[in-house]
Amino acid sequence: MRTELIRARIIEPYYRKEIKVEDTVLEFGCGSGVFARYLADKIGFKILFYDIKQYKTKEKLESSIPKVDIIMLNGVLHHIEDDNEIKELVLKLKPYAKKKILICEEKPTLRGYIFDHLMNLKYSGLKIPLNFKNKEDWIKILGEFEYINVKTCWWYPFKHFIMIIR
Ligand SMILES: C[S@@+](CC[C@H](N)C(=O)[O-])C[C@H]1O[C@@H](n2cnc3c(N)ncnc32)[C@H](O)[C@@H]1O
Repeated sequence: MRTELIRARIIEPYYRKEIKVEDTVLEFGCGSGVFARYLADKIGFKILFYDIKQYKTKEKLESSIPKVDIIMLNGVLHHIEDDNEIKELVLKLKPYAKKKILICEEKPTLRGYIFDHLMNLKYSGLKIPLNFKNKEDWIKILGEFEYINVKTCWWYPFKHFIMIIR
């Protein structure tokens, strides 16, 4: 099974609480699009896709950022090395998200770092600084936000959390 689908199954119950069927959601930094497509089909919301690059995806990408109910960034921000760039990006996206921005990131763990490095080999051309941070580091960059720890099982290499910016 594709890694995006394993992750999507883990995250689904958390996003199910945050996204309503009638919401239109933009996945910013969609990559293959597999992760967001799974969630949209399972939960029933309308999904739009945006990325700086068209990787192997059947999904149609938006040419600019549309105004939607929710913008989600899944595993995107740790690819951006500069903290100011991260802050500027989130500030830029805020006016386009009527309800909230959902950010799913990984905690810094050695297993996560190694696995992510290997998995990201498929995103050719993508910078891989793997800029993982703790909650306190994210607060310094993004200010206060709602923080949700994602439960996983022992064999799963990552430790995810979700930040909600309203
Ligand atoms: C590891 S992939 C995650 C893909 C997908 N969100 C998922 O969860 O499977 C990171 C994606 O973020 C995109 N990305 C990184 N920086 C970006 C930026 N500044 N603007 C748009 N997309 C960006 C990359 O092109 C890549 O597709």
